[in-house]
Amino acid sequence: MSKQRDQWSSSLGFILAAAGSAVGLGNLWKFPYITWENHGGGFVLVYLVCIAVIGMPIMMAEILIGRRAQASPVPALEKMSKGLPGGKWWSVVGWMGVIAGLVILSFYAVVAGWSISSFINCINWSLNGFDGGQDFGGFVGNGPLQVGLAFVFSTVTAFIVMGGISGGIEKATKVLMPVLLGILVLLVLNSFTLDGASQALAFLFTPSAINSHGLLEALGHSFFTLSLGMGAMITYGSYMGRHDSIVKSSIAIVLLDTLIAIMACIIMFSILFTFPQVRDSMGKSTAGMLFVTLPQMFYTGMPAGKIFAPIFYVLVGFAALSSTISLLEVVVSLLVDKLEWTRIKSTSVAASTIFVFSTFCALSNGAVDFFSGLKPFGQATEGFLFKLNETFFANKAGFMNLFDHMASNWFLPVGGMLITLFVGWILPSRISAEELDLLDENGNPNKFFQVLLFSLRFLAPLAIGYIIMMVILGRDFS
Ligand code: PHE
Repeated sequence: MSKQRDQWSSSLGFILAAAGSAVGLGNLWKFPYITWENHGGGFVLVYLVCIAVIGMPIMMAEILIGRRAQASPVPALEKMSKGLPGGKWWSVVGWMGVIAGLVILSFYAVVAGWSISSFINCINWSLNGFDGGQDFGGFVGNGPLQVGLAFVFSTVTAFIVMGGISGGIEKATKVLMPVLLGILVLLVLNSFTLDGASQALAFLFTPSAINSHGLLEALGHSFFTLSLGMGAMITYGSYMGRHDSIVKSSIAIVLLDTLIAIMACIIMFSILFTFPQVRDSMGKSTAGMLFVTLPQMFYTGMPAGKIFAPIFYVLVGFAALSSTISLLEVVVSLLVDKLEWTRIKSTSVAASTIFVFSTFCALSNGAVDFFSGLKPFGQATEGFLFKLNETFFANKAGFMNLFDHMASNWFLPVGGMLITLFVGWILPSRISAEELDLLDENGNPNKFFQVLLFSLRFLAPLAIGYIIMMVILGRDFS
């Protein structure tokens, strides 16, 4: 513990790594799909408000805890809550975060692995001609292939995390993020040449009606997409230098994440509006848009699709990788800080443990019946156990679906709630204002801080309370 703590080498390094964590499958895979499902404009507007009013303050709250304590979530909350109401109990946020990291990484690595196979398929189709696309059900049901792909992705993640903060994570994200942005810009420019582009923009930016389910999805998604509620930002903040600005960095991270999500929508919707036949045949599954519909359109409608298709999946893979790195780092940093294990040992143990669960997820989309049909409280269709399945898991089946549900519906909102309550009500505001560098000339918290505090004390808890209440009532938004 007395060793010098590794640090980001610059504030740009931190911003890129944290934006790398935020930007991921949530932006490219989930956001376009839920925006489509919720009819565009109105949903986008509500989402932007959620991100600005709730997401951003919680991001600042997380980073400030990490930076102040210079420790990973569990010891950070132990340190920061010393002598305050609740005391050490607040470290439960850290423990929950570690479990959430494990849960999310387990299924995330599986979906991330799909980008590898999509890339390989696209190279093949670009060289040898499109054969109509792959049978997605058959693909996800192929156990050995699914486990293999997740293994490759997890191993690459582990190697980068082993390299440490400045030498591994920062180096990797400094390459991954600019390449990702470059590819996105290229794809957006290309989509502007499509007939459907103006319709796509109108769909995205003309306010439309939104229902309560849309509101819930927008709120819930703002946690997932900004990597909030599970300590990732506490962890990354703990490697931040004293002189870097948390407020400016958070704004940059949130803007990057939002910009990339919107760009992903422009790309996908321009294509969708250009080829109505594919739009109509689009399946109901979340996976559909990114991994099934898109390749078809790249090859059947876009003149330059042959070139863009493989590049696009490099983008997806890179975005996912910078997120899996942060998920693994949350677990690794706990082992390094608490047990004082070396980084190599911590990473090996964490990554291999998580891979066991990834295997279960990988086998749960049709490969192995036990995992695919699993329900935590059994298969009853009525009675108490059925009720439990319904309340906690929205009656879902299958390891991967259950993990996804647990993370988005339970862990992230509850973790986010505890963090916002801790920083809003428990931690003296002087400490937060000082850490955020939001003191006026007399040394008192300034106006901007008051606005932030208002959100952390009232808006965020109310909004998250709404999510938790709806989830208990059986609503699902994962
Ligand atoms: N923010 C990531 C995404 O949008 C997912 C993630 C969640 C990463 C929580 C880390 C922690 O894909």
